Amino acid sequence: MQNKRKKLIIGNWKMFKDAIQASADFQTLSDNVAAKNLSIEVGVAAPSIFLADLARKTRNTVSLFAQNAHWAEEGAFTGEVSPAMLKSIHVLGSLVAHSERRQMFAETNQTAGARISALLNHGMRAVYCVGETLAEREKGLLKEILVTQLEQAFVASKIRNSQTFVGSDPNKPLLSIAYEPVWAIGTGKAASAVEAQEAHTIIRTFLLNYFGDEIGNQFQILYGGSVKANNVSEFINCPNIDGALVGGASLVPKDFLELCMKSSN
Ligand code: 13P
Repeated sequence: MQNKRKKLIIGNWKMFKDAIQASADFQTLSDNVAAKNLSIEVGVAAPSIFLADLARKTRNTVSLFAQNAHWAEEGAFTGEVSPAMLKSIHVLGSLVAHSERRQMFAETNQTAGARISALLNHGMRAVYCVGETLAEREKGLLKEILVTQLEQAFVASKIRNSQTFVGSDPNKPLLSIAYEPVWAIGTGKAASAVEAQEAHTIIRTFLLNYFGDEIGNQFQILYGGSVKANNVSEFINCPNIDGALVGGASLVPKDFLELCMKSSN
């Protein structure tokens, strides 16, 4: 069961590119992924303003994600985008609680749980981001932080039926976890494979305890933080690392394709 999880590589474009660049880069990516017959799933989490255009280009080769989604079905939430809106333009799911949103936009484990629940209830995918700061790591709080982030969000999601987290496609479970240590994001200083493995084992153990073995083993756990084409192999071959969430190295299609090809066997 454990080795059967499909690898997932998602490029997080954050707040980069304009419409012309986004469209051209996505087209290049989509054409090349289609031509290469990769064994992995390749995704892009794009700024929401570009998603409708990009959704018309995917031809199901590149999975399209938003970077954030609101928890409400609809309402007076100026500036927000709902899962139902995303679904209506064929976006598959969204990142949830990226550390930049935790740090700058008041995201909490509770609001993350509400977003996860809204996405899953629409049959959409949620890539829930967790990770410790350098200060927390240095205080020996790695396990406590990760377990709290996971537990509080799942409790806040109020989803009682574990199956809701999984969905119907075993290759694409609705919930994925991205372990992104804050100190490794955008710094060029990736975690070592040993450090990433330690965190991923904590996360997997939590998932097995919370959901039971069968369901807990299905979720992909991605590593994120300064992943590049020249270091992705260190991570992707570790037993509990099922893919990567890539920032800077996903912005240039040629670099991202190289990274994806190195992740595919
Ligand atoms: P970098 O790959 O630029 O370090 O960013 C990681 C990240 O935040 C992906 O979500």
